Amino acid sequence: TPVEGVFRLGASTPVCIESSDERMRWVADALDEVLQPVFGRGLECRFPQAGEPHAVNFLLDASMAPDAYRLMVTTERVDICAGAPEGAFYAVQTLRQLLPVEAFDGGVRTVELPAVEIEDRPAMAYRGLMLDVARHFFTVDEVKRTLDLLALHKMNVFHWHLTDDQGWRLEIHKYPELTRVGSVRRRTLIGKDPGGEYDETCRYDERPYGGFYTQEEVREVVDYAARRFITVIPEIEFPGHAVAALASYPWLGCTGEQYEVRQTWDIDDRVFCVGRDSTFDFIEGVLDEVIGLYIHIGGDECPTKMWEQCPHCRARMRAEGLTAPRQLQGYATKRVERFLQAHGRRLIGWDEILDGGVSPTAAVMSWRGTEGGIRAARQGNPVVMAPTTHCYLDYYQTDDVANEPLAWGGCLPLSKVYELDPYEGLDSLAQRCVLGVQANLWTEYIPDFAQAQYMLLPRLAAVAEVGWAPRRRNYDDFLRRMEHLRLLYGACGYRYAPHPFAH
Ligand code: ACM
Ligand code: ZN
Repeated sequence: TPVEGVFRLGASTPVCIESSDERMRWVADALDEVLQPVFGRGLECRFPQAGEPHAVNFLLDASMAPDAYRLMVTTERVDICAGAPEGAFYAVQTLRQLLPVEAFDGGVRTVELPAVEIEDRPAMAYRGLMLDVARHFFTVDEVKRTLDLLALHKMNVFHWHLTDDQGWRLEIHKYPELTRVGSVRRRTLIGKDPGGEYDETCRYDERPYGGFYTQEEVREVVDYAARRFITVIPEIEFPGHAVAALASYPWLGCTGEQYEVRQTWDIDDRVFCVGRDSTFDFIEGVLDEVIGLYIHIGGDECPTKMWEQCPHCRARMRAEGLTAPRQLQGYATKRVERFLQAHGRRLIGWDEILDGGVSPTAAVMSWRGTEGGIRAARQGNPVVMAPTTHCYLDYYQTDDVANEPLAWGGCLPLSKVYELDPYEGLDSLAQRCVLGVQANLWTEYIPDFAQAQYMLLPRLAAVAEVGWAPRRRNYDDFLRRMEHLRLLYGACGYRYAPHPFAH
């Protein structure tokens, strides 16, 4: 609700935090980060200190939801009241959006904030982005810039796709070959394979490509995320998308053959052998070194071809009374889930984990449309909606493909992303199982961070709004508000796709 007048925010305006919650310092840091480019420095912070006139005042009110906030800007003062520090953090992001974009040019003494009353909170608890760092690697600084983007959009989950056929990107002390061997591929396919056979017609760059994160760097990222109220969900793919791991330790595969880290894309038959107990010792050893309450174990696109021919896998089927090779994946997933549960952690996986029958506590990420998510929610499993139809930001954003950088395929314009209804097909009881929504950025054809930004923006804003207000949306109104947000992207130095704004 707009109110008459403006508040003059200046470099000498103090910040008063009426709370002893140490995490409110993170909120003050976030405000400093916003105002640093404006005033050349942050504001003086009084902590703890009751609110004052002519100040930006923070107050926590435990009767509000933790992620809810009220933001009151009057000519006299700015008052932010939130249920918990994360709500206050979202208020700071809203404050950033209220600043005139000219302010970000810097060198000003005061800026005018329009007087408003805002009451706000997210409808969905999970508003995420998945970044694939296996097909192309992104540095710690680039990952932090990605987390900045999530913060700007009030998103709160970073799903970190750390392993795949084309690279293992996470240091594991117990298994050093994973990064020594598995983090580097000898070369990479150039462009697309016209035949889909990856035969001699393909061209390669003949340049080694690699990268990985040390555990120290992972802790740094997790800490950076936590200060922005973002949860990191690491993904360790199992039992498919395993070639980099098998190249590192050939005994993880059904045949024991020495493979190379994969240099092309698509689904690979060479997956973890689930007949041998040594494979489970391995994955448990890996997961012991992976931090996080939620662990994503992938589970998508796992062919059974190798298992069908493997004496160990066939013996496993007999011993477990399984009648089809596909059931081996259910066996493997449940075994890993038991391990995670015994260590106080929760399993999340792509919707294929439903096919083998999952426990009611596993969370399901629905990517092959929303059908898997609907099925899972109806049986009471927690669900995140990330269907290819609306959430795959590696797809083209226009049908004018000839004038776009190479992308995976498909066409997913901003308007279509915005149309996602995460509750469609679900009654009110099942709707409660839908934790939220997620955008996925697969990076086969996204070689660098500039390109990643171009694919993310502005479509990430649409996913964010679906998660924030799934029932209260209007595309024209969204587009009108995007005009300001895109100026903010520009002011913050982000690259974004121009298509939705060309009129
Ligand atoms: C996926 O896109 N394979 C989850
Ligand atoms: Zn096997």
